[in-house]
Amino acid sequence: MLKLTLLKPLLLLFALFFLQSCSLCTAADTISIAHPIKDPEEIVSSGQTFKLGFFSPGNISDNRYVGVMMNIPSQTVIWVANRDRPLRDSSGFVTVSEDGNLVVMNGQKQILWSSNVSFPIANSSAQLLDSGDLVLRENSNGRILWGSFQIPTDSFLQDMRLGGNTNNNIKLTSWRSPTDPSVGNFSFGIDPLRMPEFFIWNGSKPYWRSGPWNGNVYIGVPGMSSGYQNRFELVNDKGSVFFTHSFFNDSASMYYVLSSSGILLENILYKGSANSKITWTSLRSECDVYGKCGPFGICDPQHKPICTCLRGFEPTDKEEWDKGNWTGGCSRKAMLQCNMNNSSVHNGKPDGFLKFDNVKVPDFADLVEFLKANTEEQCGNLCMQNCSCVAYSYNRGIGCMHWSNGIIDIQQFSFDGADLYIRLTFSELDHVKGKRKQKAVVASIVSIGSVFIAISAYFVWKCLTKYRGKASRMGVLLDNIDQPKIEELPLYSFETLTKATGNFDLKNKLGEGGFGPVYKGRLLNGQEIAVKRLSSSSTQGIKELTNEVVLISKLQHRNLVRLLGCCFEREEKMLIYEYVPNKSLDVYLSGSQKSELLDWRQRAFIIEGIGRGLLYLHRDSRLKIIHRDLKASNVLLDNELNPRISDFGLARIFGSNQDQANTNKVVGTYGYMAPEYAMGGKFSEKSDVYSFGVLLLEIVSGKRNSIYKDENDLSLIGYAWKLWNDNGAIKLLYAPLSDPSMEMEVMRYIHVGLLCVQEMAKDRPNIPTVLSMLNSEISELPPPKLPAYTARLCLSNNEFSQLSLDSVNDVTITSVQGR
Ligand SMILES: *[C@@H]1O[C@H](CO)[C@@H](O)[C@H](O)[C@H]1NC(C)=O
Ligand SMILES: *[C@@H]1O[C@H](CO)[C@@H](O)[C@H](O)[C@H]1NC(C)=O
Ligand SMILES: *[C@@H]1O[C@H](CO)[C@@H](O)[C@H](O)[C@H]1NC(C)=O
Ligand SMILES: *[C@@H]1O[C@H](CO)[C@@H](O)[C@H](O)[C@H]1NC(C)=O
Ligand SMILES: *[C@@H]1O[C@H](CO)[C@@H](O)[C@H](O)[C@H]1NC(C)=O
Ligand SMILES: *[C@@H]1O[C@H](CO)[C@@H](O)[C@H](O)[C@H]1NC(C)=O
Ligand SMILES: *[C@@H]1O[C@H](CO)[C@@H](O)[C@H](O)[C@H]1NC(C)=O
Ligand SMILES: *[C@@H]1O[C@H](CO)[C@@H](O)[C@H](O)[C@H]1NC(C)=O
Ligand SMILES: *[C@@H]1O[C@H](CO)[C@@H](O)[C@H](O)[C@H]1NC(C)=O
Ligand SMILES: *[C@@H]1O[C@H](CO)[C@@H](O)[C@H](O)[C@H]1NC(C)=O
Repeated sequence: MLKLTLLKPLLLLFALFFLQSCSLCTAADTISIAHPIKDPEEIVSSGQTFKLGFFSPGNISDNRYVGVMMNIPSQTVIWVANRDRPLRDSSGFVTVSEDGNLVVMNGQKQILWSSNVSFPIANSSAQLLDSGDLVLRENSNGRILWGSFQIPTDSFLQDMRLGGNTNNNIKLTSWRSPTDPSVGNFSFGIDPLRMPEFFIWNGSKPYWRSGPWNGNVYIGVPGMSSGYQNRFELVNDKGSVFFTHSFFNDSASMYYVLSSSGILLENILYKGSANSKITWTSLRSECDVYGKCGPFGICDPQHKPICTCLRGFEPTDKEEWDKGNWTGGCSRKAMLQCNMNNSSVHNGKPDGFLKFDNVKVPDFADLVEFLKANTEEQCGNLCMQNCSCVAYSYNRGIGCMHWSNGIIDIQQFSFDGADLYIRLTFSELDHVKGKRKQKAVVASIVSIGSVFIAISAYFVWKCLTKYRGKASRMGVLLDNIDQPKIEELPLYSFETLTKATGNFDLKNKLGEGGFGPVYKGRLLNGQEIAVKRLSSSSTQGIKELTNEVVLISKLQHRNLVRLLGCCFEREEKMLIYEYVPNKSLDVYLSGSQKSELLDWRQRAFIIEGIGRGLLYLHRDSRLKIIHRDLKASNVLLDNELNPRISDFGLARIFGSNQDQANTNKVVGTYGYMAPEYAMGGKFSEKSDVYSFGVLLLEIVSGKRNSIYKDENDLSLIGYAWKLWNDNGAIKLLYAPLSDPSMEMEVMRYIHVGLLCVQEMAKDRPNIPTVLSMLNSEISELPPPKLPAYTARLCLSNNEFSQLSLDSVNDVTITSVQGR
């Protein structure tokens, strides 16, 4: 103690001396052979955010470590170089060695730590960046040879990547204790062989899990879905999977620290503030400890005791369980019918599923191929048919999850989480009635084939109403996922975009959309983007334009292309979108080899997805949007063949922005425009429904409306209408797809398509009704009336505009594009 108190002022004096003598040193953020640093010197990143220097954690030892610290009074350490081999005194220094590696040496010139790049580089220097990354560069060409973000210690900063592949998996590792930075027992990261999800491990055993990533949130972390300002992102880089995160508000940053006791701490640091604040921790209750209640146990922090067995299960070891040793978990009270060969036991009554609301889904989910199950109902049916499936859960962002062994790590949340269905015997479900949290869903299969039969009309009815109600409620719920608030839209500089697109190189041009050319680009951080360079026909000022773009950027939905930001600079107006890899839908229509790539299920999935995107635009978003130019080339397909609608909201900028109105600016595409819009400039939800109908018929038939022509001069719509009246509508289906088992469904889709393209707007269903019709919630469909444009319009665009001009006074067609 005495020694310390005496030393302190001395050290301080030394520090002051060095600081002063060092204010003359140049290259304050760089270390090289010529400019090593010696304890207690330091380097500071150019923006003053981080520094690299020597420290002794706590006050308990003379051990010295070299690390990167936040340049704030608390000097929070975010990375340590020589964590396992401390310097024993203050004679250490950091330099670049002869072979070009960054090294930490003691006074005897022994290397305690090295960046350990295996090939010799000879001429290099290390620089501390404002992101906190310490990088080693080759001097001759600036190439980065090594970076501290590749071997993090216990902190996960913005711009850092955790994850990778089985050979190189980047994880955080905890300190051994708050005063000992050596490698501790806990690590944090992802398992590259499993669904993307964060784990904390204690040694090799899981200690906490986040629940799977659904594209927006980790579904086992309640509270992420609304008002949460930190955005995680999954990066798929040549077979390696990483998570990164970034904060929405430039006035603060967020970072995560894995504490030496295995708790992940989320911290926020406001610009200019002296300390960061903890905003969340992974251990909010005992229930957050992995597998607390063992297999088939459920943990509820609000309940005493916290562990109970799931309904239908009892403690495996009753004595231990009652003592509070829950690790043995629970076992079934009665064997499942499915696994038995002895029907007398349950009178042949079928197994069913019991629903648990708001739970953390168990570990070890198997993901069912999304084409086999892309609704909750299909997910449940598949599970029912497979005796080894003991539970299922469906999430729109993830798809259908099945569990086949002992299920472990279930927690009861009070909000968020998932609906989990667990397979139970009939006898267990029988007396489950009216309980709030637990609802029975019973269905039954005959062992031969997979035909569902009704055992009890009451139960089947209950089941159906529940499924239906649930499905639509869930649709609305998920469609409404409130993204974190963005008050301001990211502005990209012209320079950034020029670089990203290789100076708008023709090679990078993705296409020419209605409002200007679109280029593919890649930002410095590797993110791929699509840049729409608007041809300046907007009459709005920059301020109105920005307001409009901010509003549009808030529309975020799985079936919409995300608007990331904009650039209004040097007379340029550009919108930056996420890049969607699988091209637009028109590539898959006739005239391309790709048209054979989509089978019927995929087509139905795409049609429904487009419908959901439109539903969001029309009904569910805060801002009602009439698209006005829905067409195949405005629907992009992502990696999972999810359709993503693009160009929504642009008509508001370039046309007029009333929701339902007459406009003197028609923005649309020949072949997709409803007659009242094309001829009269009158647009509404129903004109979008018309375009949707055309698109539906195109997807089913694999033919393009605008170039389709049959021998009788019928349009695609006219042809569909003729087939319909000749009772041959199934012939509309793209020939290679015909399969009698899906005829009913195909016919229903065509029927709905024809309802959408009816001549009179008032006869067309609205989008919610269209969706209900497609998934047969509405089973009785009205007969379609005569559609618009049954005869092919053999007009060029000019003639078409002329026609409209002649037929309607005061309407100017400014932007009618062919395709
Ligand atoms: C170290 O000692 C100083 C002064 O004695 C005290 O203010 C500080 O809180 C101590 N730090 C730790 C981590 O114990
Ligand atoms: C450097 O790498 C080699 C093998 O690549 C390894 O054996 C050695 O332990 C590493 N040294 C340090 C200090 O990390
Ligand atoms: C290293 O590079 C610097 C700058 O490029 C140059 O001035 C210096 O001579 C080089 N040193 C060696 C040993 O090659
Ligand atoms: C780390 O785990 C070992 C056993 O694997 C245990 O003996 C040790 O106490 C643990 N250390 C800490 C800091 O928890
Ligand atoms: C981590 O694992 C070790 C050894 O298995 C155990 O002793 C320790 O209690 C565990 N720590 C926690 C926080 O569970
Ligand atoms: C807890 O119970 C399991 C059996 O369920 C037993 O194997 C284990 O030893 C028990 N642990 C303790 C600490 O008693
Ligand atoms: C039921 O019994 C038959 C023959 O007795 C056997 O082939 C079959 O595998 C059994 N099924 C199950 C699920 O045990
Ligand atoms: C079926 O189970 C019942 C009740 O456990 C038993 O009495 C009967 O012998 C079993 N039948 C067969 C064929 O195993
Ligand atoms: C049943 O489920 C198991 C485990 O998920 C899976 O391996 C098997 O392929 C499934 N069987 C069928 C017929 O789908
Ligand atoms: C960013 O944070 C600052 C400080 O808390 C706050 O005043 C401002 O409103 C925030 N901006 C946004 C867009 O959230």
